Amino acid sequence: MKPAARPTVWITRTYDRLSGCYDLYMKVFYPVGEKGRKLVAEKLEPGKRVLDVACGTGTLLAFAHQKGLQCSGIDLSPGMLAQARKKLPQAGLNLASFYEIPYPEEHFDYVVVTNALSATFVEPVWVISEMLRVCKRGGELYLAEWPSAPQATLRSRFLTWLARLSDDEPKDYLAVFSELGYQPKIDCINKHYQVYGIKKANGG
Ligand SMILES: C[S@@+](CC[C@H](N)C(=O)[O-])C[C@H]1O[C@@H](n2cnc3c(N)ncnc32)[C@H](O)[C@@H]1O
Repeated sequence: MKPAARPTVWITRTYDRLSGCYDLYMKVFYPVGEKGRKLVAEKLEPGKRVLDVACGTGTLLAFAHQKGLQCSGIDLSPGMLAQARKKLPQAGLNLASFYEIPYPEEHFDYVVVTNALSATFVEPVWVISEMLRVCKRGGELYLAEWPSAPQATLRSRFLTWLARLSDDEPKDYLAVFSELGYQPKIDCINKHYQVYGIKKANGG
């Protein structure tokens, strides 16, 4: 089944429940994810247009806004978006799935995703293809995730309890990028967590 057609109620419910304490939760359970977000934000140049896919509570977009970028975000959880709107009342924040990004082709200079694709239920190739579609030619796409998660971290146990699902399935992002014709630049924050960057080809 095409991912976009799958029921997503449980994702929404889980993140809605977590939204009020999500920022604290990241600090306590997943500081490396915060570093990843910062590293991505540092790569963005002022004056450009950025879309954060699965923007959550809008922390990365808040950095980008401070740097002078024009910010947009999408997420599937109204609760997470409500938190993001408190930080970024001026940004374009929309309730939408990353399998069907509600923007025209080649609309953004940067399209980013952090800490959202490694969950067991996500199929990165669909998401990254959609991200490439809305990215301008010569624009950049960044992804910060854990490609080979240590099993049973405190964070994954917490999420398993909260969502009744494990969220630490290893994903081969290099294979996904290669399938799409890209060889990303990689920043390793540690052996389990990496930031990937590609420039969208001018020809397509
Ligand atoms: C772990 S949070 C990451 C949030 C933020 N990017 C960060 O770095 O903190 C995962 C986010 O992905 C969102 N999400 C999950 N499935 C999604 C989908 N199909 N489309 C859009 N957002 C989705 C959730 O609602 C949640 O806000």
